[in-house]
Amino acid sequence: MYADRVLSGMRPTGSLHLGHYHGVLKNWIKLQHEYECLFFVADWHALTTHYDNPLGIEQATWEMVIDWLAAGVDPSKATLFIQSQVIEHAELHLLLSMMTPLGWLERVPTYKDQQEKLTEKDLSTYGFLGYPLLQSADILIYRANQVPVGEDQVPHIEFSREIARRFNHLYGKELGYEEKAESAVKKLGGKKAKLYQELRIRYQQEGDDEALESARALLGETQNLSLGDKERLYGYLEGGGKMILTEPQALLTEASKMPGLDGQKMSKSYNNTISMREDPESVSKKIRTMPTDPARVRRTDPGSPDKCPVWQLHQVYSGEEVKAWVVQGCVSAGIGCIECKQPVIDAVLKELAPIQERARAYTQEPDTVKNIIADGNEKARDLARETMRDVREAMGLHYT
Ligand code: TRP
Ligand code: SF4
Repeated sequence: MYADRVLSGMRPTGSLHLGHYHGVLKNWIKLQHEYECLFFVADWHALTTHYDNPLGIEQATWEMVIDWLAAGVDPSKATLFIQSQVIEHAELHLLLSMMTPLGWLERVPTYKDQQEKLTEKDLSTYGFLGYPLLQSADILIYRANQVPVGEDQVPHIEFSREIARRFNHLYGKELGYEEKAESAVKKLGGKKAKLYQELRIRYQQEGDDEALESARALLGETQNLSLGDKERLYGYLEGGGKMILTEPQALLTEASKMPGLDGQKMSKSYNNTISMREDPESVSKKIRTMPTDPARVRRTDPGSPDKCPVWQLHQVYSGEEVKAWVVQGCVSAGIGCIECKQPVIDAVLKELAPIQERARAYTQEPDTVKNIIADGNEKARDLARETMRDVREAMGLHYT
């Protein structure tokens, strides 16, 4: 019904590191050539966990946008904007909150996980529970059908699909749809009809996916229904009728192969990052002092690349020839670790040079960055308003 539209957001974490670059930004840059893309700063989402200290958010937003642009996200290809500057997200979030079962939110795995992880904060707030719903509003308001995210975000996209389906079910019904569906249920016959209704209620009120599966299986086995009735009943289970909001899909981003300096995932909280705007001196020093295979105590001790975080960096940055040189030199103690690290240092510096040059230019012209975002906000608002018109109309809030 709609052409592919890609949307993704990032919480403003300030300046980004090579993990973001290899994991997310390179993917965005590729997608911007293939699809209509919208990328935004999820500043309200930052408030769900930083409500006690919101002052850094604005600065972090601008730093992050500069890094997007410096990496090569192209404002003439993709629409870049800030969530809080398109207040329609808040209206959709509110309207969706009216029909969102609490159980659906409580069951999103990130809810309990994050609460357990971030123990120093009180996250038993309304806003934090609603995090995935705000994310759903972000996505649904643009009728985006493809959402590039990492594995950890897949449950949120699933949740958004369920919200879209429920919305369409509640507010997108065709005239007489319910009566037709109810009479199709009767045709299932006593026992089956009763079971179907029970499963349907369990799915719709409690979000019980197993109930949905069972009900689908039940319909699959049924022989005595016309095709039309069968389709009606599939639709009746999970929505159907007119599609007002589009069900989005996760466009799974491959996990970044970019390791941190200690071989763990690169992350600010592990203190193992190289930032995109790290100065060359510091980059060299960080890599030079990286840990290597602990077996190589002396230069003459042989090592094995598999036990060395530097080898993981070679996977990202080196060609076959260099990699062969590393393996050979490491297991035979033919090369020293400092020698082994040099090609990685060179490659990282080469990768960062043009990025840093663009970042410098944008930093010196904050107005250019502000204008890019102002344009993007405007474009995003136009799209959001279109959807909200349909949403209000469907919910009987049209007032004209
Ligand atoms: N929750 C996402 C994250 O932490 C950020 C986000 C907010 C987002 N709204 C979104 C991602 C909409 C994709 C689509 O990474
Ligand atoms: Fe690691 Fe290279 Fe040293 Fe081997 S030679 S331990 S791969 S840094």
